[in-house]
Amino acid sequence: MGFPEHRHRRLRASPAVRGLVAETTLRPGQLVLPMFVRGGASEPVPITSMPGVVQHNRESLRKAVADAARLGLGGVMLFGVPKHKDAVGSGATNPDGVLSVAIRDAVAEVGDALVVMSDLCLDEFTDHGHCGVLDASGLVDNDATLERYAEMALVHAEAGVHQVGPSGMMDGQVAAIRAALDGAGHTGTGILAYAAKYASAFYGPFREAVDSSLVGDRRTYQQDPANLRESLREARADVAEGADIVLVKPAMGYLDVVRAVRDAVDVPVAAYNVSGECAMVEATAQRGWIDRERAILEVLTGIRRAGADIVLTYWAVEAAGLLANHTRA
Ligand code: PBG
Repeated sequence: MGFPEHRHRRLRASPAVRGLVAETTLRPGQLVLPMFVRGGASEPVPITSMPGVVQHNRESLRKAVADAARLGLGGVMLFGVPKHKDAVGSGATNPDGVLSVAIRDAVAEVGDALVVMSDLCLDEFTDHGHCGVLDASGLVDNDATLERYAEMALVHAEAGVHQVGPSGMMDGQVAAIRAALDGAGHTGTGILAYAAKYASAFYGPFREAVDSSLVGDRRTYQQDPANLRESLREARADVAEGADIVLVKPAMGYLDVVRAVRDAVDVPVAAYNVSGECAMVEATAQRGWIDRERAILEVLTGIRRAGADIVLTYWAVEAAGLLANHTRA
């Protein structure tokens, strides 16, 4: 019997050699923590479908943002949960509304030790729960929504946000926001554009997180899970409109999209490991069916390996802790 021609196992023999040849890195500085802040909350409110995630009040948000900076995370993405909703999402452009206040608090707390990002979308603020304003027939009106996004971008920029994250999948949203920001002198405010956002069942727990009032679905503006080439068109258009970073969402079921977008554009690519993906791991681990901590690092490493430079994850703080204690086991 001959000897094997290649001994692949030599490079797997010890933690040190495995570390030496690892092709993919995972660092806290590549992670962004999505956070929710609830207007008027006296205490942080737990979200049942997202174990460990809360709707913050002002005080707990400040503390959590400071922790995120101390752990060396790359950034935080802030979502607001307002007390009042209406048809046009007026709360979204109120300079004293929940999200604007959260941006000011976060920036006051951490300065630029963290990239402070804000969700730029109307869905948390509208009583119908859609990401834009509706026309007379009840459809989301693309161009009227762009005007609301432009106003929202200015309110966030004035509150001091470093990057806005338009997530509503309206056509031309990046160009409209860039023009509004530049027109008001906010040339330094960045845009992390949700370029490829699919109409996904995996946003389920998030809807609880933001007290969503949506009836129906978002399939006339979010993408069909069947499509890949469409994401490349979306990503290229966003880059041409001035996006600083493009994002793919969800992540786990769309790793091919992450890779294809990474290869198609030359700006940084982010991927959003969404609430339902997180819940799958949490629920399975609760049953004792998988090793939770290993699963978390495996999921995040896989998203990085697929080509994401940046990962938005509810596990950012925990992953930073796991990476710090990592014994290369
Ligand atoms: C919309 C928005 C959604 C998420 C982030 N931004 C929900 C949606 O499009 O229905 C989902 C995030 C998650 O599931 O973790 N502003």
